[in-house]
Amino acid sequence: MIKFPKNFLWGGAVAAHQLEGAWNEDGKGPSVADVLTAGSAQQPRQIHTTIDPETYYPNHEAVDFYHHYKEDIQLFKEMGLKAFRTSIYWARIFPKGDETEPNEAGLKFYDDLFDELIANGIEPVVTLTHFEMPLYLAQEYGGFKNRKVVDFFVKYAETVYKRYKDKVKYWMTFNEINNMMDYSNPIFLWTNAGVTVEEGENPEEVMYTAAHHLVLASALAVSKGKEINPNFEIGTMISHVPIYPNNCDPKNVMLAEEALHLRYFFPDIQVRGYYPSYALKNFERKGFDIPILDGDADILAKGTVDYIGFSYYMSNVVDYDKGEPLDSDKNVHGKIPYQVDNPYIQSSDWGWAIDPIGLRITLNRLWERYQLPLFIVENGLGAYDEIASDGSIHDDYRIDYMRQHIEEMAKAINHDGVKLLGYTPWGIIDLISFTSGQMAKRYGMIYVDRDDEGNGSFARSKKDSFAWYQKVIASNGEEL
Ligand code: BG6
Repeated sequence: MIKFPKNFLWGGAVAAHQLEGAWNEDGKGPSVADVLTAGSAQQPRQIHTTIDPETYYPNHEAVDFYHHYKEDIQLFKEMGLKAFRTSIYWARIFPKGDETEPNEAGLKFYDDLFDELIANGIEPVVTLTHFEMPLYLAQEYGGFKNRKVVDFFVKYAETVYKRYKDKVKYWMTFNEINNMMDYSNPIFLWTNAGVTVEEGENPEEVMYTAAHHLVLASALAVSKGKEINPNFEIGTMISHVPIYPNNCDPKNVMLAEEALHLRYFFPDIQVRGYYPSYALKNFERKGFDIPILDGDADILAKGTVDYIGFSYYMSNVVDYDKGEPLDSDKNVHGKIPYQVDNPYIQSSDWGWAIDPIGLRITLNRLWERYQLPLFIVENGLGAYDEIASDGSIHDDYRIDYMRQHIEEMAKAINHDGVKLLGYTPWGIIDLISFTSGQMAKRYGMIYVDRDDEGNGSFARSKKDSFAWYQKVIASNGEEL
């Protein structure tokens, strides 16, 4: 029998830059996401330095949630959502990032959004930034390479905490903070930290410098949040991908173990409050000069998180003999060095391995390593959807994916004793894909009429998964 805790937060997740549109309305400044071109399953997105009027930037209009949020919230209510995870668009609040005063119109939008959610019985779960740094901070300050950006972020965090302290309880600091460990693909350092690697710089050292500033910013934001409202629950947000050795050859087991260090680096610091030894040894071995100043240890120790929010989409397999070092030019999907295919499972059309048991493995590993409540704040299947002649969308593949993942969650809770706060599947409503910039890679249970060239009416309609998830929530996960 499938059982979930009484107050389990069944929800849905999105991010401001992939959903809102209105990229230059009501005082919003351009962000690091606003200069990303469209890509595809084969073609990486390009990062432009300025906005070219001839280029289509999918995030500029996204799915126009900015003007549709009231009708969307009615659909979320009908679905029965208990929680809605979104982010506040940093560049809406501080358009350039270094202003002394915030943009009131930006703050007002989130007041209205959170009020509307609460009035409809939906708890807002908020990420402070989900790849939404003001472009100016990236271009004029070098993003999180520069320690000054830590102060700008903390000021932004303080501003929104104070404004929404009675409306939002669950916060996360940086979305998928550990993405940037893959510095072979420029999009991750750019979107996480506003950083580009310059000629002559060591990309790994640059990444760890920015990473140090990010963990400081996160820790300071946690401490600040607790001062403003001690009842806040403030989490990290990581992308977790379990990495399996291809066989029991100990060198492959060790290879997988080391690859996992790259996944654990951020939460190790954010949960324990200090750097893990494998990272310090790496700095020492490579002669990296990471700007860790006196007093930083204290900041990290004080600003530890309350829970671990994480995304789970896939697992990876590594094999030293059969895999290859990374070919960064072709790395559209965030592949890792020595990765090989897993013959036991299927992949999505974008090559993401579909592995529900991997979710239970993840829940167990994170729980055992950190002993903190977990929150699955992203999970889902990016797929091509087809509209039948009567307008219906039969996305049984999405239902199957979610059913299998929810079953594994239930085992982790009931069999393994993992403490899980909730489940907010990704892209509850169709939105712009992060890695490919496509609309065609759809996750939603609500369809949005918009295509990869920017055509469409933005009309919303329900896929089959809508009614299915409604039933799941109404039965608290018993009817799958
Ligand atoms: C995570 C991000 O990487 O996965 C989301 O937090 C993203 O922003 C999601 O959209 C799915 O990835 P994609 O590339 O399929 O949109």
